[in-house]
Amino acid sequence: MDDLRDKYLTRIADAGDEAALEAVRLEAVGKKGEVALKMRELGRMTPEERQQVGPALNALKDEINSAIAARKAGLEDAALDERLRGEWLDVTLPARTRRRGSIHPVSQVTEEVTAIFADMGFSVAEGPQIETDWYNFDALNIPGHHPARAEMDTFYMARAEGDDRPPHVLRTHTSPVQIRAMEATGAPLRVICPGRVYRADYDQTHTPMFHQVEGMAIDRDISMANLKWCLEEFCRAFFEVDDIALRFRASHFPFTEPSAEVDIRCSWEGGTLKLGEGDDWLEILGSGMVHPKVLAAGGIDPDVWQGFAFGMGIDRIAMLKYGIPDLRAFFDSDLRWLRHYGFGALQAPTRHAG
Ligand code: PHE
Repeated sequence: MDDLRDKYLTRIADAGDEAALEAVRLEAVGKKGEVALKMRELGRMTPEERQQVGPALNALKDEINSAIAARKAGLEDAALDERLRGEWLDVTLPARTRRRGSIHPVSQVTEEVTAIFADMGFSVAEGPQIETDWYNFDALNIPGHHPARAEMDTFYMARAEGDDRPPHVLRTHTSPVQIRAMEATGAPLRVICPGRVYRADYDQTHTPMFHQVEGMAIDRDISMANLKWCLEEFCRAFFEVDDIALRFRASHFPFTEPSAEVDIRCSWEGGTLKLGEGDDWLEILGSGMVHPKVLAAGGIDPDVWQGFAFGMGIDRIAMLKYGIPDLRAFFDSDLRWLRHYGFGALQAPTRHAG
């Protein structure tokens, strides 16, 4: 009996995994195991012998079973420990600094503009880049003969031969989204509309595709004063300069009346651009009070509602804020340029709290 115990307790302790342990269990206390065989021998014993050997065999069986259970628990713990060691991960490590891709300045600035206007209650609206001439021109009070059509260097889409409807255009500005937003939600309304626009032009500050953001606020009592405040707030936050000065210069757009182009005070001293100081002015956007005909085209009653609109170049304000000299490089997909001017994926849009 002692030999049996020693033999199996040693083999249980040596079992390296659960399969080996199960094999030992069958050999020792299985139906045809060694302990069962011994039990069978009880029948040939005298009653006195049986009284001694029977309980001893049962005790041995229990002892082996509990040794197996203990060993099994030990093996499971070891397996779990092993797995935890293999799958260990330090979540406090800093994020990788070597960037593979980067956020394009146009995307970054679009996010920044969106965040600033969101704080002022503006939501984002979008429209198609291929527009009907009605949305791009007529609805914005630019009828067929209007010189503004020619000035915009419009790209026209081809129509099938024999189709004499007016051709679609690649939108020349984001202003058509004003009409779509008015149609979609009616008044009151507060939206910005960022997106791509197209004009046939190419030099250091012009590319055939570029980006604008339109802004529009319609309510019963919106005035030029609200426009001025919004734009000043925006420029302060966006350019991160407290002492911003804006100049509203009378201008003309068919879709606003009155209209103003807005310049920002700057200095070019020492060849670098500084905003908010100096005696120079730099044009940054076009704006005005939405023309009653435009409100009507958007399905809004101009006798009840009024509001302002503005449009500015996203690429242009990106160049100003981040000191990027040539617009054409924005769209060359040159990795060296992208690494230099691009932003990290985890970099939040900068906001000036001032
Ligand atoms: N759509 C004009 C442009 O592209 C900008 C603008 C928008 C002007 C809204 C006034 C009001 O030049």
